[in-house]
Amino acid sequence: MKKLDITVPVTVASYDELSPEDRRLVDLAREATHRSYAPYSKFCVGAAILLSNGEIVTGANQENAAFPSGTCAERTACYYAHARYPEATFETIAIAARDTDGLEIANPVAPCGACRQALLEYETLAGKNVKVILVGRNDIYILPSVASTLPLAFSEF
Ligand code: THU
Repeated sequence: MKKLDITVPVTVASYDELSPEDRRLVDLAREATHRSYAPYSKFCVGAAILLSNGEIVTGANQENAAFPSGTCAERTACYYAHARYPEATFETIAIAARDTDGLEIANPVAPCGACRQALLEYETLAGKNVKVILVGRNDIYILPSVASTLPLAFSEF
């Protein structure tokens, strides 16, 4: 028997330490939280994806009275991005959230398991790492890839 230790590299940064390109993506993810439709949870999430063609697609969580029908911000953004620009690959995704009090959450928001799996599919399609920026009021976490957010991911291949 042997033990496998899986580690995840996370860079902790402040907003000011980000590149102008990443700052813009963070701004757009924060802005997108205001387009969230979250009357049930009141937890407003925004995502912004930079594509290889230079376009930026944003998404926000959309809830529904039939609870399982709602969609997270990340999946709203990634499905729309690929539906709108099927030829483009994903470069970077930034995710931000506001809590029930309307303030940005203190710690960086992390995508749910389903969103990690969905995003991973587009990283695999791209054949290259998609940078992940998780935004919080105090810190910003930068991960080098979607795969690093989902160790031991499901894959048929
Ligand atoms: N939510 C997201 O939009 N992204 C995540 O990764 C986690 C959760 C949404 C779903 C639901 O509308 C609300 O946040 C509370 O769970």
